[in-house]
Amino acid sequence: MGNKRQSTYFLLAIVVIATIVSLVIGILIGRSLNRDSVSPPSNDEIYQRWREAVEEDEDDGSLTKMIIDEMNPENIKESLRKDQPNHAYILSEDNSELFKTAVEETELVPGDTLDNAVPPFNAYAKAGVVEGDLVYANYARATDFEQLQTELGVNCSGKIVIARYGKGFRGEKAKQAHLYGAIGLILYSDPADYAIYGVDQVYPDTVFLPSTGVQRGNIITEQGDPLTQGYPAKG
Ligand SMILES: *[C@@H]1O[C@H](CO)[C@@H](O)[C@H](O)[C@H]1NC(C)=O
Repeated sequence: MGNKRQSTYFLLAIVVIATIVSLVIGILIGRSLNRDSVSPPSNDEIYQRWREAVEEDEDDGSLTKMIIDEMNPENIKESLRKDQPNHAYILSEDNSELFKTAVEETELVPGDTLDNAVPPFNAYAKAGVVEGDLVYANYARATDFEQLQTELGVNCSGKIVIARYGKGFRGEKAKQAHLYGAIGLILYSDPADYAIYGVDQVYPDTVFLPSTGVQRGNIITEQGDPLTQGYPAKG
């Protein structure tokens, strides 16, 4: 009985890790489950089941140990964006590329670039390609989306939202954009907030963000490391 439960958990643990760490591996596991004619639960369902097990304290520690032991640094490295940088494009109506964002920031002072600096990205943002019309949503707070919807009659469903950093956590902005049906979110640093004495009064002359500078952070709105929620994570 205990063994059966344990082996169910083991499969679940593998699936959870694979789907979170690597979409590709997730797809492969989904296929092999299909071959055994078991319809694979969606990533969200798997994640939900695992979270419930942890929250209801049904895990005697073995599930967590398995999850932690299965954390293969190679898998994690594959998911890092270093070799898969984020790009935002502006396309014309005939799909030709009018603009593409840079991968790295400009080195404004020689020697400023650190070898181990990560390129701009927001951790835990889902990888993918989305295309759609752009909607400007101010700071992407709940109130901003409400105003768009009720006062301006703008529906963000299926749109890419562009919004500025500030006045709240970036993860909350992503959450709100998602709740209002956006398929993507572009966050930028508005000079009004990050170069308050003017765009010519920025680093290296002042501490304010230059036009080529990009903020980094994560967009998690829950507690802790999502791979080991409720438990310590090993580095
Ligand atoms: C927004 O558009 C979507 C998709 O067309 C639709 O399902 C939804 O009801 C709309 N929301 C509002 C508030 O009009």
